[in-house]
Amino acid sequence: MSTWEKSGWRAKPRIQMPDYTDEAALQAVEAQLAKYPPLVFAGEARTLKRKLADVSRGNAFLLQGGDCAESFSEFSADNIRDTFKVMLQMAMVLTFGAKVPVVKIGRVAGQMAKPRSAPTEVRDGVELPSYRGDIVNGFDFTPAARIPDPQRMLQAYTQAAASLNLLRAFSTGGFADVHRVHAWTLGFTDHEDAERYRDMANRISDTLDFMTAAGIGPAAEHEMSTVDFYTSHEALLLEYEEALTRVDSTSGATIAGSGHMIWIGDRTRQPDGAHVEFARGVINPIGLKCGPTLTTGHLKSLMAKLNPENEPGRLTLICRFGAGSVAEHLPRLIKAVQEEGAHVVWSCDPMHGNTIKSSSGYKTRPFESVLREVQEFFAIHNAEGTVPGGVHFEMTGKDVTECTGGVRAVTDGDLSDRYHTACDPRLNASQALELAFLVAEELMGRRTGRQAEAS
Ligand code: PEP
Ligand code: CO
Repeated sequence: MSTWEKSGWRAKPRIQMPDYTDEAALQAVEAQLAKYPPLVFAGEARTLKRKLADVSRGNAFLLQGGDCAESFSEFSADNIRDTFKVMLQMAMVLTFGAKVPVVKIGRVAGQMAKPRSAPTEVRDGVELPSYRGDIVNGFDFTPAARIPDPQRMLQAYTQAAASLNLLRAFSTGGFADVHRVHAWTLGFTDHEDAERYRDMANRISDTLDFMTAAGIGPAAEHEMSTVDFYTSHEALLLEYEEALTRVDSTSGATIAGSGHMIWIGDRTRQPDGAHVEFARGVINPIGLKCGPTLTTGHLKSLMAKLNPENEPGRLTLICRFGAGSVAEHLPRLIKAVQEEGAHVVWSCDPMHGNTIKSSSGYKTRPFESVLREVQEFFAIHNAEGTVPGGVHFEMTGKDVTECTGGVRAVTDGDLSDRYHTACDPRLNASQALELAFLVAEELMGRRTGRQAEAS
């Protein structure tokens, strides 16, 4: 493979990136970011890669989730805490279902650049450049807001650093204690509408009580009261990514210092494009969004470029086909992976193939479609004998009304009540936790199926 430089992407075709008008201002920001400390370190990215290697073998399960787009206006300790909290609850339920450790990765601390389906947006006959995430331009529909402003990268960096700092504190400072986390979950299942999940929650309670009685709790004090939590985002704005790229002084390896894991979006995964060129040279775990238009030929060349050493844990294929379409696409991609003998993590993003316009005009995702895509993903992996390694959700810890359905049903008419997303519709806290229970049921079914096969 050809040599790699952090600026090598600049010679490749780029799409979905802004055209900054003030070149001097852009360069000044890049120079400043290049002097700032990285947000993550090589050892952390390597540890995460080892954990993802376990996921690829079926010895761990991946939970990745968070906002579609983090925004400057919604940035607050409460929002970060609430998303972290529901992810811990989901992870605990999934651990119980999968009977393996759950690797937790937030779409957080850098998820601020967005690919868009159209370069411009028209409202009432007025056409303006599309909003591309707060790291690029402003959400307001005014000519001034929509001009890409490189200064926004500095604010994004500051927000990412503060978010990560808080997450690190929550992870080890007592907030993540299993008993606390489980008490929150019991609060959810106490509601009449969540009754069908109470049985599993009670079984988790019994397990925790047993561990305490057997003296396992105190002995595993550290494991019971702290968690490892990682960050991830789409590496879309390559000026920002390049400026935060660092060479690890101990190993000489190059790392994207912007987050633990980065991914390549479904729109920017051209094998000869700028985004693939950047990602191939950094040692971080890499995600690759796989939508219906991904050909097996492209998948093979992407695997060769992004993971030439076939290192387990390096590459996560995040499938997002849409409910009803998994059977058409997943088997052919599984076959391509098998033909190459490639080690990958298979993850399911049941969000991006299931976006519809509701009768009330809002962009939404029906809970039933999200669940159905996950079930199809599991069914196909079970049939193929491959490992359904994880799930990828757009979600928030807040009680928003952006996706319809769930036990505490959100209807089309409710969408206008608390529709706060800066981009795509997210599962709210209750819908996200409910989904974790349903995925846990799938995982338990899979275990039961396997045991039956073995006997
Ligand atoms: C996203 O994850 O927010 C996204 C834009 O996804 P995709 O690239 O799969 O469309
Ligand atoms: Co999205």
